[in-house]
Amino acid sequence: MIHVENLRKEFKKVNKEPGLKGSFKALFKPDYEIVTAVDGISFDVPKGEILGFIGPNGAGKSTVIKMLTGILTPTSGECIINDRNPTKNRKQYVKEIGVVFGQRTQLWWDLPLRETYAVLKEIYEIEESEYKKRMAFLNEVLELDGFISSPVRTLSLGQRMRADIAASMLHNPKVLFLDEPTIGLDVVVKDNIRKAIGKINAEDQTTVILTTHDLADIELLSKRIVMIDKGKNVFDGKISELKSKYGQMRELVFVLEKTEDLKKLDYKAHFKFRDDDLHVENDGVFVKARFNSSIAPVADMLSYTLSKITVKDISVKDADIEEIIRRLYKQEVDVNE
Ligand SMILES: Nc1ncnc2c1ncn2[C@@H]1O[C@H](COP(=O)(O)OP(=O)(O)O)[C@@H](O)[C@H]1O
Ligand SMILES: [Mg+2]
Repeated sequence: MIHVENLRKEFKKVNKEPGLKGSFKALFKPDYEIVTAVDGISFDVPKGEILGFIGPNGAGKSTVIKMLTGILTPTSGECIINDRNPTKNRKQYVKEIGVVFGQRTQLWWDLPLRETYAVLKEIYEIEESEYKKRMAFLNEVLELDGFISSPVRTLSLGQRMRADIAASMLHNPKVLFLDEPTIGLDVVVKDNIRKAIGKINAEDQTTVILTTHDLADIELLSKRIVMIDKGKNVFDGKISELKSKYGQMRELVFVLEKTEDLKKLDYKAHFKFRDDDLHVENDGVFVKARFNSSIAPVADMLSYTLSKITVKDISVKDADIEEIIRRLYKQEVDVNE
């Protein structure tokens, strides 16, 4: 369904000295710098799958989505979606895909929401009976009823996102690209949107690529993820695999009651951590210890810490994606092997 091979994108960035003089110089004698945003990404997605496409900010996710949707032309490499090249025959291609960018909206700001849908119906040449059926389904999963007559600018961020997803699905595309659809939303709203995406996927076996920097987003929706960092693939496989192998880092954060000699806390010697398994930061008030919980269980770390020093507050957090990626790089392992 989706085939991506060795995709690359370079941007030319003009280095400009500050001020008017710099602007003139840049105009006549431009000093370019090439930024490689996507550096040889490959993956395949079978029909009907929801692929979690993840990576930290700046990894190149949006640039990949823009190439897959035909907004940007790749510097090299190829992507074939549904037997089509996104930059060729665009008029036909856009009828087969739906796209949502979490940071932007395709809705008409000042018009009531239903007007946007009426315009899209014309653009996509959707028949009346098909349109009615589709609206009824989208209404049900995205609960648009309460605000379909309101101008888009009056919608909350969560309502707007639901409205945007409906707009991208109106013509019943075979593939749906969602770039950070839950960014900036609170937990309950995020959860509603996840459920709606699941229902849309189940209804017509719509293939979905869902971009996010939040691992929790896709845990419920997709079993498989492609993870990228600095424009390169770092992982392609099941989330459960990633977590059991690399997701065992926990972070213990505590606030000291008084000035303490932290030498008393010799985690490394006590638990026999290797270099990669422990990372301690201390700014005099907050102490952060990231550690591998498969070597020292959280309970043991807590009781050892509390037996050595007095703390005012203490908390434990899960490893986040950034942490997992940091470890992947440090170990210089290829987890796909
Ligand atoms: N139009 C552009 N011109 C120059 N650099 C860009 C442009 N778009 C993105 N980049 C750079 O490419 C890299 C990847 O960006 P992006 O694809 O937006 O990452 P992500 O979506 O994973 O946060 C970043 O370093 C970003 O600054
Ligand atoms: Mg992005």
